[in-house]
Amino acid sequence: MSLLIKNGTIVTAYDEFKGDILVKDGKIVSIGEKLDSMAEEVIDAEGKFVMPGGVDQHVHFSFDFKGEKVRGFETSNAAAVGGTTTVVEFVNQEKGKGLIDTIDNYRKSEVEGVAMVDYAFHGIITDTSTGVFDEIEKLPEAGYPTVKLFMAYKGMPFHSDDAALAKALQKAKDVGVTIMVHAENADLIDMLQKDCIEEGNYQPYYHAVSRPPMVEVEATERAINIAKAMGAPLYIVHVSTKGAIDAIVRAQSQGLSIYGETCTHYFLLGKENLAKENFEGAKYVCSPALREQDDRDYLWKSVKNGWLNAVSSDHCGFDWKHQKHMGEKDFRNIPNGAPGMENRLGMLWTYGVETGKITRSEFVNLVSTTPARNIGLDYCKGHIGIGYDADIILYDPKQKSIVSNENSLQGVDYNSYEGMEQIGKVDKVLLRGELIVDDGKYIGKKGQGKFIKGKPYGLSYKRF
Ligand code: URP
Ligand code: ZN
Ligand code: ZN
Repeated sequence: MSLLIKNGTIVTAYDEFKGDILVKDGKIVSIGEKLDSMAEEVIDAEGKFVMPGGVDQHVHFSFDFKGEKVRGFETSNAAAVGGTTTVVEFVNQEKGKGLIDTIDNYRKSEVEGVAMVDYAFHGIITDTSTGVFDEIEKLPEAGYPTVKLFMAYKGMPFHSDDAALAKALQKAKDVGVTIMVHAENADLIDMLQKDCIEEGNYQPYYHAVSRPPMVEVEATERAINIAKAMGAPLYIVHVSTKGAIDAIVRAQSQGLSIYGETCTHYFLLGKENLAKENFEGAKYVCSPALREQDDRDYLWKSVKNGWLNAVSSDHCGFDWKHQKHMGEKDFRNIPNGAPGMENRLGMLWTYGVETGKITRSEFVNLVSTTPARNIGLDYCKGHIGIGYDADIILYDPKQKSIVSNENSLQGVDYNSYEGMEQIGKVDKVLLRGELIVDDGKYIGKKGQGKFIKGKPYGLSYKRF
């Protein structure tokens, strides 16, 4: 199968130019001006920006919060219509099982034959009794070279202590496995939550009150210190606050391989959302909590300056009517997390590119190129270049719309960005050369997504 994408403006993390792209058997085989080709199909991209498909390095299709489970890979076509062609899912190690076994089982039973975009996995350490630290050296061969630990969530089965983090870092560094961390101080949150409840403050807003920026800053600094002591690279997920960013920048200036991402909602939504009446605030309960305007402004500066290297969705599909209502009488029982894989590119384009806060190339870098590199998928994903998978989006900058959950594929009963304006539209999406979104509508097939093996040393030897 051959396909020519003609006349578009190609945007990569490095440059922008008018040109054509020739695709054969799912790969990009030629890029140039006015390519004369006998392609079997031609797509005219005049007036469109032609960019690599998004790589969302932080999604949850299997997360379980106090027995409530998120929507799974059957909703991954929502990523596709949002312009994301690869998602990376966090899989909690099953009690008594190894990470590889857990991920292999999950992959076979819940992902293969279901996923509608390509996918890879991060493991999450939850059970240190299984010899999991010794298993770390085997992860690269299995294609799962990234592992996360939760410093937050005291009392939850997935919480890890500092010793576990240190041990994981120690084992990971020699084999190129990247350790990721959710950095929030679990003990302080627990104490602050109890204070709120004792004072009768049980509403969603107190989720944010009990998770002030300080709990993130302290844990980020501690995680960095532990990584420094172990001589290992570290990746900090969903960074939301100035103090944590400053800690990352300080570490980088000392030559340490410490990197971090932020997520769409931390730019665009704030603590005030949690105060919405009639339990609407529960829709915005995620961790770290949404922040004040000064932190949000600093995030834009941070992605512009490369202090944070990626923007993920941290997509977590809990519905409001049933699942979020678990915490109606106690905010601690509101499942943490919000949907967003469908809106990541559209929101960042609208409020980042269109406002002049970031350039188009920086946008591509943040949503696709660097995420692919962080997690060892950059041998085939995240770039428009010869030999890369033909994961390509055509973005029409002239369209305007209002975000509404009515036409969402995320499978939950709300959208965090409801009512916000979006400039531009993901018009077409190709997954390895196959058209899976046309005129903004999903037209692909269930099970079309493929497992992509991650390679090790995503962070260790690279500075971006
Ligand atoms: O609130 C969030 N972020 N939920 C998903 C799990 C996590 O902490 O990443
Ligand atoms: Zn987290
Ligand atoms: Zn997450």
